[in-house]
Amino acid sequence: MRFRLWPRTLPVQLIVVVAGAVAISNIGVAFYYYVNSQSQAQNYIIERMVDRAASVAASVSQVQPQARLVVMRTMSVPSWRFREVPENYGSRVMTPDEQALAKRIGDALPAGHPRKTDVVVHLYQPLKDIDPSLRPVRSRQPNPPHDMIQAIVPISNHSAISGVFMRPTPDWPVEIMVAAVIAVLVASAGAAVMAGRVVRPLSELTGAAAAMADGSGRPHVVEQGPDDVRNAAAAFNAMAEKVTRTLESQRHLLSAVGHDLRTPITAMRINLEFIEDSELRDGLMRNLDELQALTEQVLAAARGTGGETKRNVDLSALVESLCADLDDLGEPVHWAGHAAAPISCRPNEIRRALRNVVENAVAYGNKADVRITGNAEGYEIVVEDEGPGIPESDRQRVFEPFVRLESSRNEATGGTGLGLSLVKAIVEGHGGAVVLENRKQGGLRVRMQLPRMPAAQPRPEAA
Ligand SMILES: Nc1ncnc2c1ncn2[C@@H]1O[C@H](COP(=O)(O)OP(=O)(O)OP(=O)(O)O)[C@@H](O)[C@H]1O
Ligand SMILES: [Mg+2]
Repeated sequence: MRFRLWPRTLPVQLIVVVAGAVAISNIGVAFYYYVNSQSQAQNYIIERMVDRAASVAASVSQVQPQARLVVMRTMSVPSWRFREVPENYGSRVMTPDEQALAKRIGDALPAGHPRKTDVVVHLYQPLKDIDPSLRPVRSRQPNPPHDMIQAIVPISNHSAISGVFMRPTPDWPVEIMVAAVIAVLVASAGAAVMAGRVVRPLSELTGAAAAMADGSGRPHVVEQGPDDVRNAAAAFNAMAEKVTRTLESQRHLLSAVGHDLRTPITAMRINLEFIEDSELRDGLMRNLDELQALTEQVLAAARGTGGETKRNVDLSALVESLCADLDDLGEPVHWAGHAAAPISCRPNEIRRALRNVVENAVAYGNKADVRITGNAEGYEIVVEDEGPGIPESDRQRVFEPFVRLESSRNEATGGTGLGLSLVKAIVEGHGGAVVLENRKQGGLRVRMQLPRMPAAQPRPEAA
């Protein structure tokens, strides 16, 4: 399983980005402050150490050996401690920094001070390396977090004093951390509000587009939110309006043509009776029958995608009753039983679509095997036959109106080529899809996929 840490929705992405940016900038500021105050504190303690070590050494060198301890006690404070040590105590090789400091202490000693050049400085000693008797009082507290700075300054030819200083470590600036947390919260709230302003109209747009695809209404979205989103909504509304109008005028045109053809056909049928040549009359009558069938198909196509309201029905019962009707008419239609399949659809349209598919199977494939399969998303009505199937290259084309494949242009199956285009319009009008495939064992398989849809939504317009 692949783990996706990056959130998928815009609001969460926006919040993560904004909160992350604010957090990073605040941590940067706090870190800068921390480092800066640390180096300031260090410089400060070193200045004081130089002064202090020099002045204590100068004072101690002036008093009698018996009084030295008293003087050094007086001059010690909790974070630094002075004690007398032997003349060559703790000498080791010094780093250049330590040498420079030792020289500064030497220079700060008064003229005439003994062995000014023998000052030793040990920077940042771990506490454990320092003789317990020389440690400052404060270093005895549990877990002292400080490094020590030790200065050893000669006070006579035979002795020296050790000064041990605690280096204070600055704390993390709590105020800055609290401010950072508040800033992150405020920025996240701001980002959430902004994201809401973008996402709300966007999800309305998504809903409207889905409603349009599903054919369940004339969608219109409120034009709101930032300019970019508002423009998208306006463009969508314009497109939806245009598509709806185009579809409507197409339907009106089809239904007008269908209607207007009916009257002359009827008139011609009556007039045909007066033709005496029976062969000619029968030929013309067949042509008229074809014309009449075409007209009825055109009218059906016009009605096909409009006029009916969605209802909750049992798809299984609907398919079964149609198959039974066709079976009664002597058509070779076989229906595999299926449990109740509740669905929201326009039942007459689905009936008309299925009828077309089944009639094709019978006409071009000798028989129709009908069954329903279902999954979480919806149902599939599957119709299989034993005919020649449809070559891959024609599977798109047969959905276009009036397209009939060369092989079926014969008297026996004389259709109009409107059947499958109607099927496609109906199924897609339900938010579904029609899939054609050739079966391995020969014959065509038509799969009409219908999503389970929410409760019926009335259509605003009637054809
Ligand atoms: N089951 C099938 N097996 C083989 N070819 C098919 C099958 N169904 C359809 N076709 C081919 O697709 C073409 C288009 O089918 P469609 O149902 O749209 O029109 P039609 O059956 O010719 O006429 P109509 O259904 O309008 O009376 C058919 O003419 C036929 O060539
Ligand atoms: Mg057909």
